[in-house]
Amino acid sequence: MFRNLAKLPLIGRLLLILYRIRVGLSFVLGVVGRYVKWLFVSKETTNLTYHLRDDNLIYLGHFIAAVTGKTYQEITLYFNEILEDKAFYTHVEELYRHGADAFKSDKEVRLARRIGWYAIIRVAKPKVVIETGVDKGLGSCVIGAALLRNKEEGFEGTYYGTDINPSAGFLFKPPYSQMGKILYGDSIKSLKEIKAPIDVFINDSDHSENYEAEEYETIKNQLSASSYIIADNAHCNTKLHEFALKTNRKFLYFQEVPKNHWYLGASIAVAFEQTKPLIKPL
Ligand SMILES: C[S@@+](CC[C@H](N)C(=O)[O-])C[C@H]1O[C@@H](n2cnc3c(N)ncnc32)[C@H](O)[C@@H]1O
Repeated sequence: MFRNLAKLPLIGRLLLILYRIRVGLSFVLGVVGRYVKWLFVSKETTNLTYHLRDDNLIYLGHFIAAVTGKTYQEITLYFNEILEDKAFYTHVEELYRHGADAFKSDKEVRLARRIGWYAIIRVAKPKVVIETGVDKGLGSCVIGAALLRNKEEGFEGTYYGTDINPSAGFLFKPPYSQMGKILYGDSIKSLKEIKAPIDVFINDSDHSENYEAEEYETIKNQLSASSYIIADNAHCNTKLHEFALKTNRKFLYFQEVPKNHWYLGASIAVAFEQTKPLIKPL
């Protein structure tokens, strides 16, 4: 009966639309529910934080393993290192409660894709890490924590953050701030002041396509042979993919899936050196 009615030109189309409302409604209502809850429970206004869904964190582990050439097991050790770092969590929680931007910070520390940044830095033992776009300084602290651990193991590294906002980085306090500094002002201008070879570069500042591409152009000749170039905005444009092709690097992409959040998630895209195929002696 419904099948026959649904085949009618106008009535059929209308019936089909009514039926199809049901198909997507539970999904849409789920998102609206999480959005309304977020409005009242969270205080964040931008650069939203969330946990990754459990399966998504597993896939992030495999993604970082593929990018770095390490095993999934090795990468999860680094994930657990930061996720179980009580001193790190206490530091951020304390500043979320009492720091300058406490009024727009939540109590809970949620790192999402930054766990992947942490693991890359622990594997690569970089001498210089740059993060353009600091905001509260959550990424800065994660990077600082990785550099501190590297230092304990005998690998010195320095962090440079850039931000146009003079009050950015309220979380970036000792011990993490001992690992580097934030350069205030326009990112391109600040990048031109850094003359050292760059081992890890994270683009997370002005997210317009042209600006992102200009950042890559600015640092192009300072990238060390084994550098990792990370884009935080590849879910919105393909500038890092273009840079990877132009500079003969590999490119891989990971999409976040936030846990219990309305936001669809950001991403980690990485451009990195082609590894030479292992030639086995005959
Ligand atoms: C998405 S947030 C950075 C988030 C941070 N990486 C983290 O892990 O939480 C972007 C930041 O870029 C900064 N920004 C925007 N345009 C910029 C520019 N032209 N130069 C430097 N910083 C800029 C903003 O002030 C903002 O704090």
